[in-house]
Amino acid sequence: MTVSRLTGVLGARAEGVELGPDMDPGVVAELRAALIEHEVLVVPGQGLSPEEQAGFSHLLGDYSPVPFVQPVPEHPEVIKVVKEASEPAAFNFGGVWHSDFSFLDAPPAFTVLHAIDVPDVGGDTVWASMTTACAQLPEEMRQALEQVTAVHSASASYSPAQQGLHSGLSGMDIRTSESAHETREHPLLVTHPETGKRSLFFNGTYVRGLRGPGIGDGTDEGGAHEKKLLRWLHDFTTHVRFTFRHRWSDGDVVLWDNRTTQHLALNDYGGQRRELNRTTVAGPEPVG
Ligand code: SIN
Repeated sequence: MTVSRLTGVLGARAEGVELGPDMDPGVVAELRAALIEHEVLVVPGQGLSPEEQAGFSHLLGDYSPVPFVQPVPEHPEVIKVVKEASEPAAFNFGGVWHSDFSFLDAPPAFTVLHAIDVPDVGGDTVWASMTTACAQLPEEMRQALEQVTAVHSASASYSPAQQGLHSGLSGMDIRTSESAHETREHPLLVTHPETGKRSLFFNGTYVRGLRGPGIGDGTDEGGAHEKKLLRWLHDFTTHVRFTFRHRWSDGDVVLWDNRTTQHLALNDYGGQRRELNRTTVAGPEPVG
């Protein structure tokens, strides 16, 4: 396996490796190390069935439960991310900056996304490195943020008010629920459990409030300072200088570390079909 970097910040491409449930443990260890080091790893030319993708994901860790999105009939651990060519251009799954299911007590460590049928042009995915953003925080801000807890919830994405949007995607079965309003708190600055690197565990979609000295009460109705800080964090962490953008080809597998990245899927492929299979790998509770 050869691994080459794709930007000066994050993202690498691994070649000469065939992913699957029966991989050599030494190669899995090498792949996992590259994934953690580069935060996003592109592995082109794969052909995994849903069952093989789930089996491969188990080599990286346990299955991470998937709320709200129903799995494919072929395998209970795989979801399909799909938008048909005929479907409304206004909405796509994953089209806003987020880190997968950060509102869970123990959010997924890794996501594995396998391109099955992607547009010739458009539908790229963009990731931002939260370790780099953290390292570049102005010192005063970094010190202030050490005291802050982020309040995560799925309310902006999976509460019943959003059912109409999700129902427009005929290839996905997304069932919104009042449980999306439940909140969980995670430290804003976290330590990666495997590298010890500091990271900003923030995303503007699921972080709905902040708690900390002089900041706010952690609710959507929080004060002006809390709102201003949420906006600042969103703008800072998603700045183009922290990003890597991938143009998909059928057969690509991209793996990423949700503890150190945010991502979004661009919605610029109206009239074209886009289909990928996704699995998520369990992680520990974030630690400050
Ligand atoms: C996701 O947010 O998991 C989907 C990303 C994508 O479709 O590119």
